Amino acid sequence: MTKEEKYRQILPQIAALVDGETDWIANMANIVAVLHETFGFWWTGFYRVEGEELVLGPFQGPIACTRIPFGRGVCGTAWAQDRTIIVPDVHDFPGHIACSSASKSEIVVPVRRNNQIIAVLDIDSADYNTFDAIDRQYMEQIVSEMYAL
Ligand code: SME
Repeated sequence: MTKEEKYRQILPQIAALVDGETDWIANMANIVAVLHETFGFWWTGFYRVEGEELVLGPFQGPIACTRIPFGRGVCGTAWAQDRTIIVPDVHDFPGHIACSSASKSEIVVPVRRNNQIIAVLDIDSADYNTFDAIDRQYMEQIVSEMYAL
């Protein structure tokens, strides 16, 4: 199955999981599980906006840093710049926060609600160059539907 076919397969599954469920921690947890199981990423999780920091939310994978200040690392930069960031090689990203030395590439997707960023979806791969425009498109769609209730 191609990556795109996998995304198309999980989209209705995710829609069904969040349908009728208003608890967003529960929804984040299930979305993380689907993505992590389907693609076998190294680390898959959410950081939630709490004041001036991102605080660790539901995730799968090894333990991770719990708090990331606004504008720091890939996650804090995606939040500050209000955009998805794809990092083909984390060693080339100034200020990258290495929660694990196994992480080689990364994508961070802001989660918006009422035009405000309330969280970011952060995915780490143990391989270089894992994420591209296809991942961006589907990940953005997935997080935009988290609140389609
Ligand atoms: N690498 C991230 C930190 C979070 S861990 O990857 C789970 C960053 O630079 O923001």
